[in-house]
Amino acid sequence: MADPVSSDLAALVAAAQADFAAAGDPAALEDAKARYLGKAGVLTARLKALGALAPEARKTEGAAINAAKVALEAALTARRTALADAKLDAQLAAEALDVTLPGRGAGLGGLHPLTRTLARFAEIFHSLGFTVADGPEIEDDFHNFTALNTPANHPARSMHDTFYLEDGALLRTHTSPVQVRYMEEHAPPLKIIAPGRVFRVDSDATHSPMFHQVEGLWIDRDVTFADLKGTLTEFLRLFFERDDLAIRFRPSFFPFTEPSAEIDMSFGDGWLEIGGSGQVHPNVLRAAGIDPQQWQGFAFGMGPDRLAMLRYGIDDLRVFYENDLRFLAQFR
Ligand code: FA5
Ligand code: MG
Repeated sequence: MADPVSSDLAALVAAAQADFAAAGDPAALEDAKARYLGKAGVLTARLKALGALAPEARKTEGAAINAAKVALEAALTARRTALADAKLDAQLAAEALDVTLPGRGAGLGGLHPLTRTLARFAEIFHSLGFTVADGPEIEDDFHNFTALNTPANHPARSMHDTFYLEDGALLRTHTSPVQVRYMEEHAPPLKIIAPGRVFRVDSDATHSPMFHQVEGLWIDRDVTFADLKGTLTEFLRLFFERDDLAIRFRPSFFPFTEPSAEIDMSFGDGWLEIGGSGQVHPNVLRAAGIDPQQWQGFAFGMGPDRLAMLRYGIDDLRVFYENDLRFLAQFR
């Protein structure tokens, strides 16, 4: 025959297990625990009632109550663990990263077309034996004009619309002063290019107030005008990657070269001037302390912005300076 006490306790254990299972959070679980195992708990009351029983019954009932207590504590622990796990799972789910989402991307940058063009100049002239020299963008009158055989009041000064600074300094109007600075510091033979920014009061489709030039200077015992034409023609062939270029050396005047020539390339229906050049004037060599009886050579000043126009098929060079990403992104 079934022990009525035991079956009664079994029902109590089942009720407690159901209560624990129904507790949705740790606080509710602790409340449920108190209803059975707390000071006024159902099971605690049963333990207290033991004293009134006869010794034999007390022993049996006591063992049964203890077994029930063990079962309750096991159920309690299991539920605590389950609640803690559920909490952790919820937290992990809330903080989860979806590693399958496509990334936002950093936005690929690229070199500016003029930066690419200047790099191309340096690379090609390097292959022709030239090294790169540098000079200041804020110049003095002596290096920008006087030492280049263009004294004060020389009419050729009006060829450049110069930005003057308050202290008599100026923004260099060409890279030619680097020739002078380099000759002041180095003895011939000399073979350099000097790329950089230059400034003039100028603005239209083929003129920007800030633009670039690449100066060139090759001085040795017998560098002739034929070398000038050969070197510049070879450079342009390498730059444009073709041999059938329409190039024109047009007689011209610069105070610092004699003879002088502008270099033109075919552009639309006509020609676009891409640079000036000539045999370095003896006065320029002399001003730099170089004996023109011993040394001679040529210089040039190319307009890389204009070469970039021609290479990329652009008809207004000011777009290079507008920083419109729709334009620039095409050169990535
Ligand atoms: C000169 O500046 C001379 N210093 C060049 C030179 C150097 C001659 C060494 C002889 C020996 P020019 O003013 O022509 O020359 O300018 C040279 C080139 O710079 C032009 O052919 C053109 O390609 C470019 N250029 C001139 N002004 C501008 C401008 N505002 N915007 C863009 N490119 C320009
Ligand atoms: Mg010119």
